Amino acid sequence: YKSIGVLTSGGDAPGMNACIRAVVRSASAMNIKVWGVEGGFTGLIRGKYKEMGNRDVGNILQRGGTILQTARCEEFRAPAGRREALREMNNAGMEALVVIGGDGSLNGAQKLAELGVPVVGVPASIDNDIYGTDMAIGVDTALNTIVDAIDKLRDTASSHTRAFLVETMGHASGYLAIQAGIVTGAEMVLVPEVATSVEDVAARVEEAYRRGKAHCIIVVAEGFSPPTNELAEAIDKLDHGFTTRVSILGHIQRGGSPTAFDRMLASRFGMKAVEFLVDGKLNMMTALRGREIVPVPIADVVSNARPVAEEYIEMARVLSL
Ligand code: F6P
Repeated sequence: YKSIGVLTSGGDAPGMNACIRAVVRSASAMNIKVWGVEGGFTGLIRGKYKEMGNRDVGNILQRGGTILQTARCEEFRAPAGRREALREMNNAGMEALVVIGGDGSLNGAQKLAELGVPVVGVPASIDNDIYGTDMAIGVDTALNTIVDAIDKLRDTASSHTRAFLVETMGHASGYLAIQAGIVTGAEMVLVPEVATSVEDVAARVEEAYRRGKAHCIIVVAEGFSPPTNELAEAIDKLDHGFTTRVSILGHIQRGGSPTAFDRMLASRFGMKAVEFLVDGKLNMMTALRGREIVPVPIADVVSNARPVAEEYIEMARVLSL
């Protein structure tokens, strides 16, 4: 290839910048020109891209967010939008594309691949809900942010003998909640994958009280039903000893400087993405399997779900008793 494009799409994730940097620098080492597309697939449709050299990606490795900006692009879901994108790519002489993003973004990448564009996907989403890879970019940083928040909430919870419902992100996946629950020693974790009644939650809170605990931390995945605020109101009406408070962690989980793990993963994914393109491993996603980075067909990624491992659900339950 003489020239390729790179874009970030969907929700941002800490480590995206480290990945952009790795794509640009490894391509540059092979004398391949890189176009940085701004604002995800929207930028592709509108022809918003700029040439990026090694110096343009200096001092970004340690920064959260994405210097290329990102978006969830409705227009790209329609064939007309994708046609425009293809036209712009041809205009720029962009021969292939690296798409850094989550499930929706990889779906977009697959649609481009079906139009004959050589693409490589890089999984980036704090949710860790992408099939085929052990970890996506941003997950580790988000988890560490959650752990820091819950440790702090526990201080205030135990000072006031309170039960805290702490809501984590994750879209429809309970991954972040389960992992955070295990490593913070939460009294209970509520995830969309496991239906739990309001009465069961209240009973667990009461049990913690009877055992003499000074606090009760319940991690609630945002995809859990009923919604966290409703759940808090419902359990507050039942007598269980603690007073209840809610803390919704929200978008704080998406920001911040990437951890060492995320910087390394993003850098490895970025280099491998360019390597896959050059080696003709097309329409693949870079995936972490154990310690190796392997190609997984994007078509497989977008047609499969990534369930939360039963093992962790069980672990969270047993260790919280
Ligand atoms: O996919 C990442 C994520 O942060 C999810 O955890 C969450 O459900 C969603 O994005 C929030 O989207 P937005 O930033 O559009 O509010």
